Amino acid sequence: MSPSTSPSGSSSASLLSLRDVHVRFNTAAGVVRAVSGVSLDLAVGETLGLVGESGCGKSTLGKAIMKLVPAAAGEIRVEGIDIAPLGRAELTDMRRKVQMIFQDPYGSLNPRSTVGRSVAQPMVLAGWKPDAIAARLETLLGWVGLPSEAKQRFPHEFSGGQRQRIGIARALALGPKLIICDEPVSALDVSVRAQVINLLEDLKTEFGVSYLFISHDLSVVEHIADRVAVMYLGTLVEVGGRDQIWRTPQHPYTKALLAAAPIANPKIARMRQRTVLQGELPSPLNPPAGCPFHSRCPIAQDRCRSERPELRPVSNGAQAACHFV
Ligand SMILES: Nc1ncnc2c1ncn2[C@@H]1O[C@H](COP(=O)(O)OP(=O)(O)O)[C@@H](O)[C@H]1O
Ligand code: SF4
Ligand SMILES: [Mg+2]
Repeated sequence: MSPSTSPSGSSSASLLSLRDVHVRFNTAAGVVRAVSGVSLDLAVGETLGLVGESGCGKSTLGKAIMKLVPAAAGEIRVEGIDIAPLGRAELTDMRRKVQMIFQDPYGSLNPRSTVGRSVAQPMVLAGWKPDAIAARLETLLGWVGLPSEAKQRFPHEFSGGQRQRIGIARALALGPKLIICDEPVSALDVSVRAQVINLLEDLKTEFGVSYLFISHDLSVVEHIADRVAVMYLGTLVEVGGRDQIWRTPQHPYTKALLAAAPIANPKIARMRQRTVLQGELPSPLNPPAGCPFHSRCPIAQDRCRSERPELRPVSNGAQAACHFV
């Protein structure tokens, strides 16, 4: 846990602050409640892991922070500035501070643009002079471990791991304070994953950049996160320090997620209770009343079907949203 983070998860130097954020999508089938009341803080220099099953709203939350999708309610502040009323120019400024990298950088890199043009694009848009762009391009490629010749080549000429490095170089172009990493290694071979994660960790040490690191795979977050937020059906069910979550998970959903994850450390494996997650993830088109987890919770009681539990401090210093923790 970073020194500026209090046990409740709020922080003195908050880079990102979310208060009761909701995101909804109107679809032909009805209103999809992708994010339903998320409050969270991320401190300067911190890596916060955001984990949960596919479809629980992780990417939508990331996009809402970038203002790529609108928040229906709640407040998102970057360095204390509410992003909701920002106009075009201010938003461009905000996006210098906050960048996003995706699972498949191929999707975000123009296949017909050279790597040099793609990585330079944010600097061009920001009005940098050609000389400054050329110099910065060399620096960026060096930081992410790509040779200078890479800039004349096209994305398809690179491996998945190298493409992710290209995406990271572009994200770093304007010196961001926060990078939202949305499943950045999920599409990569296991052997390449560690290299990309090590690169992200090195960049953090070097530049003090913070990460919101999104992954459906807990084992990926275990190595990089200072704190972890566990998401279920658009809500946060547990937030705590990495070791609190790994060694003493409190929420039944966190326990179930961890039970499904491989554990390298036998000491931690013994401390862990085994819970098997039953049933399907309910649809965010029609989320259950009360506790969102009640339809799958092994210890659910009547109260859980009507009363929604709030995230509150629990005995190990983390926060959990459960009536019976
Ligand atoms: N543009 C969209 N229109 C309609 N529904 C969407 C849209 N984007 C995401 N969703 C839905 O919102 C929910 C959360 O999706 P997402 O944020 O992608 O989850 P995750 O990243 O955790 O897998 C899912 O049910 C998904 O189908
Ligand atoms: S509030 Fe009830 S249903 Fe929800 S996690 Fe706790 S015990 Fe389970
Ligand atoms: Mg996603």
